[in-house]
Amino acid sequence: MPELNLTYLDSQIQELLRQTGKYILNEFSHFPGNRVSYKGVGDPFTHVDVTTEEILKARCEQLVPEAGFIAEETAANAQPEGLVWIIDPIDGTVNFIHGIPHFCISIALVDQSEILMGHIYQPSTGDMWSAIKGEGAWYNGKTMQVSATTKLDEAIIATGFPYDKVPWPEAYLQTLFDFQLATHGVRRFGAAALDLAYVAMGRFEAFYEYNLKPWDVAAGALLIQEAGGQLSDFRGEKEFLFARQIVASNRALHSDVLQILHRRIPALT
Ligand code: IPD
Ligand code: CA
Ligand code: CA
Repeated sequence: MPELNLTYLDSQIQELLRQTGKYILNEFSHFPGNRVSYKGVGDPFTHVDVTTEEILKARCEQLVPEAGFIAEETAANAQPEGLVWIIDPIDGTVNFIHGIPHFCISIALVDQSEILMGHIYQPSTGDMWSAIKGEGAWYNGKTMQVSATTKLDEAIIATGFPYDKVPWPEAYLQTLFDFQLATHGVRRFGAAALDLAYVAMGRFEAFYEYNLKPWDVAAGALLIQEAGGQLSDFRGEKEFLFARQIVASNRALHSDVLQILHRRIPALT
């Protein structure tokens, strides 16, 4: 495999995301609510998700011809081995459909489960989060760090609700209540990649969600790692990319967050 110039790729991906973001925003400005398709119950997608993914893949293929793809709208053709781009063309599709501008593109370059580079771009604000393995993480070009808060009762925790059923729905909801009581509050904004970006830059102290896919978490996870945070599955084990469950934190509060999760979710105790 030819050596990757991640600095060059970073600049090219940022340019690609800004350009593609213009297309998404234009569609968003006149999106007809009735042009929605469904992958499953409560799991909608639009022609904008599909076209955005095509645009991103075409350019990524030019940039790194040897890399495969794990991309949400064409996940069935995924090549999970070796060097891959992991892409969520629009994270926060339900927000997009409802005219709520809280959605983003999430894209990561991954080699055998090692995340080399990650980008999250929010078209409605022009905000760009980026990270390169071993080199750092940036919010609009400035170095970012996770929150320094060490007290759970001063933390904001974000989460999301899986489209698919959770094995322990009552415990999952009860956990939400537990976090609400133990912290400054819980947020559920509807775009997991942005939730992770917010943890990386210190707006949230932690985030957890069950049944997320690699394209929801790959880019955001590298942002958090490079900004000094911590990631695990619900058990506290290191594998999170393909584990379909993630706990992300500012590191200082990771064990506190796991403790609250373990209180209610019987499968984990
Ligand atoms: C969804 C969002 C949402 C999360 C769901 C995801 P999509 O992704 O990240 O916040 O709760 O679990 O599937 O479908 O908008 O790309
Ligand atoms: Ca997503
Ligand atoms: Ca999506």
